[in-house]
Amino acid sequence: MRTQILTKVFLALVTSATAQNTATGTAAVAAAAVTAKSLSPTSHVPGKAFDRIAIIWLENTDYDMALGDPNLAYLAKKGITLSNHYAVTHPSEPNYVASIGGDYLGMNNDNFNAIASNVSNVVDLLEEKGISWGEYQENMPYSGFEGMAWVNQETGANSYVRKHNPAIIYDSVTAATDRLAVIKNLTMFYQDLAANTLPQWMFITPNMTSDGHDTSVTVAGTWTRNFLDPLLTNPNFMNNTLVLITFDENHNYVIPNKILGILLGDAVPASLVGTTDSTFYNHYSELATVEANWGLSTLGRWDVGANVYSFVAAKTGDVTRAWSSPPFWTMFFNLSYKGPFNTLSSAGYPVPNTTAVYAGRAVLQKIKDTWGALVGDTPYDSRLEVPDGLHPIDY
Ligand SMILES: *[C@@H]1O[C@H](CO)[C@@H](O)[C@H](O)[C@H]1NC(C)=O
Ligand SMILES: *[C@@H]1O[C@H](CO)[C@@H](O)[C@H](O)[C@H]1NC(C)=O
Ligand SMILES: *[C@@H]1O[C@H](CO)[C@@H](O)[C@H](O)[C@H]1NC(C)=O
Ligand SMILES: *[C@@H]1O[C@H](CO)[C@@H](O)[C@H](O)[C@H]1NC(C)=O
Ligand SMILES: *[C@@H]1O[C@H](CO)[C@@H](O)[C@H](O)[C@H]1NC(C)=O
Ligand SMILES: *[C@@H]1O[C@H](CO)[C@@H](O)[C@H](O)[C@H]1NC(C)=O
Repeated sequence: MRTQILTKVFLALVTSATAQNTATGTAAVAAAAVTAKSLSPTSHVPGKAFDRIAIIWLENTDYDMALGDPNLAYLAKKGITLSNHYAVTHPSEPNYVASIGGDYLGMNNDNFNAIASNVSNVVDLLEEKGISWGEYQENMPYSGFEGMAWVNQETGANSYVRKHNPAIIYDSVTAATDRLAVIKNLTMFYQDLAANTLPQWMFITPNMTSDGHDTSVTVAGTWTRNFLDPLLTNPNFMNNTLVLITFDENHNYVIPNKILGILLGDAVPASLVGTTDSTFYNHYSELATVEANWGLSTLGRWDVGANVYSFVAAKTGDVTRAWSSPPFWTMFFNLSYKGPFNTLSSAGYPVPNTTAVYAGRAVLQKIKDTWGALVGDTPYDSRLEVPDGLHPIDY
């Protein structure tokens, strides 16, 4: 009995220590793809405002430019336009990281960053409540691939990139084989759709052509409409589902980092279709909304005080707040503050506020256990007004 348990633990450690899956050569990728594990766990945990969320991120477009795209405007008419919605810094990777972890930890680059395994993210919160999750990364060569990039094998063009894959940047994810197995490509999305095995939380990243990064918002808008149109009437996808279409960041670094957000899907109340919501939101609202919807624990970071999308807040009892200070016109969200991933201004990992209780939600027990003794040093205080590099918080 005892030997059996020890063997299992040992094997698990060996698997996580050796399965780095980072090689990007054609032969190595082909070999790894043969044995890559894919999983499609499902669950039906009811939410207060939606039972499923699909988050789609496009790339590098200013708000006005995005809203001017006819296909995105078409999709916006089917839902709610978020007209006061911001990214948290530049460039891409820290925004992806922030949207699931509640901070970008000072990141100011698109490097091969790996966040320490004692830093939690939305995956931990969802799993605590038995809510299935997954990522669909277009052209990822196999499930759980951890390499920096995978180019189109015929043209050599950029296709899949690690910097647009939020979960893979967290060691707490890559250390677990079953977590890697739900980080899949879009081929697997269509398999899961057909089999009715889509998860309740999903993050969808189109490739570098489709998301507009190497092309234009016209390509991104076209891709998004073509992708979503058939799903809007597919019951395996649309079943009290909320879809968020947004961008990682804007394009022009010297104007405020404002990005288009569109909420649509059958979870959006009919009376709100075609309306605009001018509440202040940022990438942390993605976390706060999911936490409020399913009554999850929090991460004790900027997720805690972020505004919940107001149509969801109306059902969860959350109250949205207006930005108070510093004056909003001084906020550009265009420079990263210090932190462990800042190449210019390094600092240790910020300590989550493990005693934070806001809107009735408390911090995940595992985070309290890991970080609780250090809470006196936390920079997080449940505020809405997140810092940026021009308005840093000292810690
Ligand atoms: C998608 O991932 C699956 C599972 O690992 C793999 O078999 C397949 O070849 C991948 N598809 C593409 C287009 O790379
Ligand atoms: C990106 O995906 C589209 C389909 O959505 C495909 O036509 C295109 O070739 C892909 N681009 C690259 C560079 O692989
Ligand atoms: C829609 O959701 C309900 C409630 O979770 C579930 O019972 C039903 O099977 C779902 N329908 C489909 C097509 O998945
Ligand atoms: C941020 O925007 C301000 C105002 O336009 C500008 O002065 C500053 O150079 C920008 N910072 C970066 C890093 O782009
Ligand atoms: C943690 O957050 C709470 C609000 O939930 C705040 O009252 C408290 O001051 C914060 N703790 C620290 C050490 O800043
Ligand atoms: C978290 O991990 C980082 C990196 O290994 C380490 O520097 C830090 O001390 C750890 N903090 C806690 C509270 O475990």
